[in-house]
Amino acid sequence: MFQRARGTRDFLPEEMRQRRAVEMQMRLLAERAGYGEVCTPVFENLELFTIRSGENIVKELYAFEDKGGRNLALRPEVTAAVLRMYVNEGKAIPKPLRWYYVANCFRYERPQKGRYREFWQFGVELIGADTALADAEVIMLAEELLRCSGVSFTLQVGHLAPMKYLLSTLREEEQRTMMAFLDKRDFAGMRESLVTLGREDLEGKLGDLAAARDLDEVFTITGLIPEEERIRETCSILDSNGCRYSLNFGIARGLDYYTGMVFEGFAENLGAENQILGGGAYRLAHLFGGEDVPSCGFAVGFDRVMVSRGQVLLPEKRAVGIISVGEGRKRVFVVARAFREAGVRAEVMLTVKGVGAQIAQVARIAGFAVVIGDREAREGMVTLKDLKSGVQRTCSLAEAVEEVTRP
Ligand code: HAM
Repeated sequence: MFQRARGTRDFLPEEMRQRRAVEMQMRLLAERAGYGEVCTPVFENLELFTIRSGENIVKELYAFEDKGGRNLALRPEVTAAVLRMYVNEGKAIPKPLRWYYVANCFRYERPQKGRYREFWQFGVELIGADTALADAEVIMLAEELLRCSGVSFTLQVGHLAPMKYLLSTLREEEQRTMMAFLDKRDFAGMRESLVTLGREDLEGKLGDLAAARDLDEVFTITGLIPEEERIRETCSILDSNGCRYSLNFGIARGLDYYTGMVFEGFAENLGAENQILGGGAYRLAHLFGGEDVPSCGFAVGFDRVMVSRGQVLLPEKRAVGIISVGEGRKRVFVVARAFREAGVRAEVMLTVKGVGAQIAQVARIAGFAVVIGDREAREGMVTLKDLKSGVQRTCSLAEAVEEVTRP
C-alpha cells in the first residue's frame, strides 16, 4: 500500500466541505473590503526566496533543480511571489493594490500536529500605501477573518522600531540573534548571548519591552523615537474602531522582510503550534527590480484555523436520489438536471437492484426519492417519495421540484 508523503494530508469530502465553507467566508470578507484574488505559480526561482533571507533558508525549502538545470523551489509562502508579480505586472495599476490569495505552501519542517510540509495560507497584501490607516485596515481585516472563522483567538500587535532601537548598537547579525530569542520569548538564551557579547546592560530593557503592555511604558523604555507618532496613530485608530488586540513589542517575526508594524494571531485551544496568523508592514519590491514600495499584509494559517475550529454542523443541502427503471433510464439525467438547476443535490442511483432496495439506499443520502419507471416515462411524470413521512405521489417534474424546494 502506498503512503502519503511525510507531512502531507488527504481530505475527504466532509472535511473539504468544512474547509470550503470557511474559505468562502474569508473570500467574501476580503472581497467586500476591496481585495481582488491573485494567483501565482506553485514553484518559483529559488533566488526569489534566498535574495532576502540568505542561503540558510534553503534547508527549510523544497528546493530542486529542474531538467534544464534551473534552481527552483516550491513556495514556502506567497508574499515574495506576489511582490515579484507586482513588479512584473502590477506597477502600472493605480495604487494602492489590494490583493488576496488562497494557496498551498511547502516547508521542509518536522511535521507535528498543526505543522505540515504542505499547508494552506489565506493571505492579503496591501501594496503601495504607507499610512497608519493602511496598517489599521490590514490588522482589522485580519481580526475580522479570524472572527468569521469561528475560532477563539488573541491578536497581538507590535512594531519592530522599539526593539531595533534598543539593539542598534549591536552588529546586524547580533541583532537578528537577539530578535530571534525575543520572538521565541527565550529570555535565558537571550541573556546567555548578551553575556557572551559583554552587553548584559541591554537585558533589562529588552525584557521590559517584551513585557510592556501599554504604549507609555514602551516609549519610557525607548525614549524618543521617530516612529512613536505613527505607532500611536495606528493604535488609536484600532482602539476607536473596536479592534480587540493586545500590544506585544516582543514580536520580531521569523521572516526577514518586515520593517514596521508586526502582528500575530494565536488560537486559544491549540498546543505548541498555536500561531494561526502572522503579518506586518514590509518592503520587498525593490529586491525584485521594482521601486521601493511600502506594503503591509498577513497570512492566515488555514489548516491551524481548521484544527482549532473543529467540525461544525453545516446545514444539509436539500437532496434527492433518483431511481430509474426500464424506459425511465432514458430520462434520468433530464430529471436530475431539473433538480440541480433548482439548487437541489440530485444523485442518480447507478445500481440495477430492485426499487425497494434502492429506496433504502437513497434514505441514507437524501430526504426524497424520485422514481421514474416505464409508466412515469410514458406519461412524462415522476413518482416523488418523501422519505421522512413515507408519503408518495406521482406528479409532473415541475411539481416535484417545487415540493422539494418548498421552504
Ligand atoms: P508566517 O508567519 O511564516 O508568515 O506564516 C503565516 C501562517 O502560516 C502562520 O501563522 C501559521 O499559521 C501558518 N504556517 C506556517 N508554517 C506552517 C506549517 N508548516 N504548517 C501549517 N501552518 C503553517 C508568512 O508566511 C508571511 N508571508 C505572512 C505575510 C503576508 N506577511 C506579510 N504578508
